[in-house]
Amino acid sequence: MTWALVVGGVLLLAGLLYWQLVIAEGTYLGPRVVTFLYNLVAPTYDEIKQFDMACEQWFLGLPLARALETVPAPLVLDVGTGTGRLPRALLFQPAFQGRVIGLDLSRRMLTEAARRLRPYGEQVSLIWQDAQVLPFPDDTFDAVTCLEVLEFTPRPRAVLRELVRVLRPGGVLLISNRIGRDAALLPGRAFPRPVLEQVLENLLLEDIQIRPWQEDYDLVWALKRGEPRGGGVRPLEEILRCPACQHGPLSLEREAYRCAGCGREYPVAKDGVIEMAAAARRRPR
Ligand SMILES: C[S@@+](CC[C@H](N)C(=O)[O-])C[C@H]1O[C@@H](n2cnc3c(N)ncnc32)[C@H](O)[C@@H]1O
Repeated sequence: MTWALVVGGVLLLAGLLYWQLVIAEGTYLGPRVVTFLYNLVAPTYDEIKQFDMACEQWFLGLPLARALETVPAPLVLDVGTGTGRLPRALLFQPAFQGRVIGLDLSRRMLTEAARRLRPYGEQVSLIWQDAQVLPFPDDTFDAVTCLEVLEFTPRPRAVLRELVRVLRPGGVLLISNRIGRDAALLPGRAFPRPVLEQVLENLLLEDIQIRPWQEDYDLVWALKRGEPRGGGVRPLEEILRCPACQHGPLSLEREAYRCAGCGREYPVAKDGVIEMAAAARRRPR
């Protein structure tokens, strides 16, 4: 009897750990655990995912470049960019003559992204920051993308609101939504299709298209309602805001972005990543 209880307890614990750490990737344990796990897998992430270049172009690079073809130099934000999957797919398209900013909370994923995106030089910038507070003003980007990320954030609806806030009217939103067997094990993180449609409509998005993409994900396209305004490539100094006090713009002095509002400094690391996450948590000097 005692043995049966011990074995049952061990199995239950193993199941719980598998759910929390493997399926949910730490999402119910907080962003620190999610980030810890992504920092661990960063060097092997692309090997694990085995991205197929043709699929990446067919589903992401080509349709996004087409959706932006009327904008001469589009500015794109990829939230939770990981190793730079979306920037790579988009910048591979010769028709795309804009710039991509990739943001992520895992510093090591960004280290990998910086290495892989080096050939694109000035066309890419990378920012270490939490998606829950995007360091940009309203109506800034021609497109905002967020792939395989929302379910790993503590409040996906709040992150969605942030994505739409920084998207300009008439701009393109491209996100993924978790589906399939595992989605049932992610309560409050993955959206049933009709619920997602309603959430997006409430955020004043239109032309919402939810299409099958991968076994575990739908791909969702939408436009932000309103008379088109804003967008276009602009220098980072013009659009960066302090994630701690919202003051902006920031000034670039001696390899760091400086906030005149609260005095915080956000260093630009050797690999070009703008490091906001750690400095935003610390008290200003
Ligand atoms: C499954 S990966 C997807 C990466 C990339 N978008 C792709 O499709 O390959 C999830 C990414 O979301 C990032 N992430 C998770 N929570 C985040 C948050 N709160 N803010 C910013 N990034 C976050 C992780 O660090 C990780 O790089």
